[in-house]
Amino acid sequence: MKPETKTTVADVIALEERYQLATYKKMPIVAERGEGVWIYTNDGEKYLDLYGGHAVAGTGHSHPHVVAAIREQAGKLMFYSNLVYSEARASAAEKLVSIAPSELTKAFFCNSGTEANENAMRMARMATGRENVITFSGGFHGRTADAISATFLGKYREIGKPNVPGHLEAEFGNIESVRTLADETIAAIMLEPIQSMAGVRTAETRFFRELRELCDEFGIVLIYDEVQTGVGRTGDWFFAGSEAGSGVVPDVVTLAKALGSGIPVGACLVNERIASHIKENDLGTTFGGGMIAMAAVTATLEAIENDGMLENVKEIETYLRERLSEVAAVVAVHGRGFLLGLEFPEKAALVHKALLEQKIITGTSSDPKVLRLLPALCLKREDIDLFVDALKAATA
Ligand SMILES: Cc1ncc(COP(=O)(O)O)c(C=O)c1O
Repeated sequence: MKPETKTTVADVIALEERYQLATYKKMPIVAERGEGVWIYTNDGEKYLDLYGGHAVAGTGHSHPHVVAAIREQAGKLMFYSNLVYSEARASAAEKLVSIAPSELTKAFFCNSGTEANENAMRMARMATGRENVITFSGGFHGRTADAISATFLGKYREIGKPNVPGHLEAEFGNIESVRTLADETIAAIMLEPIQSMAGVRTAETRFFRELRELCDEFGIVLIYDEVQTGVGRTGDWFFAGSEAGSGVVPDVVTLAKALGSGIPVGACLVNERIASHIKENDLGTTFGGGMIAMAAVTATLEAIENDGMLENVKEIETYLRERLSEVAAVVAVHGRGFLLGLEFPEKAALVHKALLEQKIITGTSSDPKVLRLLPALCLKREDIDLFVDALKAATA
């Protein structure tokens, strides 16, 4: 049945265009409601969502357990700052630390990925008394001053000018390029363990081990930006400590995106070495650790656990890769779990458009040949079948 709508698609688009800065290239759909991997629009259509609103809808859209937790918390106390203790905050921190590698023992909550990365770099500088930070070509770390200065991808550093000094660029996957920069002036090495925006670029497992060794040799803080790879996306809770990363555990892991299932929340997970350097008032943010966000974090992690989503990611990834081998136009599949980059001989944007016409949402990347899939962790075989049929039609 077609839902009643107050406004047409054209009305909503015209209003947004009139009153909002045009900072995003948008798909011409008006999202109204979501359920699992589906987005329902205000003109009665439904779309299979393989992008999750920039990798945010990890538990799927409006997961009932998360919705119930947010509703319940909103009726009790929406917010109080870190000047008081809170059961919601205590539970979220305990739950998050309990699923993290055992070396990461404390959490700091903030509101977004860029903020988590800013705080991670700040903690590294505080812990080492040094200023410089090495990051990698192709890595994306956010849009605030320090994070955008750490982003050696496309035009971002240019947008962020004047850049914060002390940011050095190494080549992702090339340990020699890091070794030539590593010395006692470096506070941190920060990386996306899988570079999503660059086109889902991976490095050999050895690279992570070598990075850890280099950091230990020079007393450098190793930071994994797991804003995309964290919270189950790769089929493990985190890339940190996983087999894909040689079991390496960094000193700091940053999280955001899927952590709150859509409620804005970011976090830094740190080890004892970092924690021992952080004192009262060294870090802070008004909204960090707010009760609604904390209820969303706990419920998100519970939903992933209760629904067996990590196992699902591994099983469905295998099935997806099998089915993709039937599609001649897909020349390579990059990534891991539900952070996948499908490489085409030419423009992925054309495939993105053709899929959208068949009511399937995917994502592009900085690599014009790579289409990104960042679906909810509850994606099923039947969704894959639908996608692969549509992809065959789109690329025939
Ligand atoms: C790997 C990575 N780090 C950091 C960020 C910044 O996160 P936010 O947009 O929440 O500030 C993003 C956002 O796309 C990201 O993909």
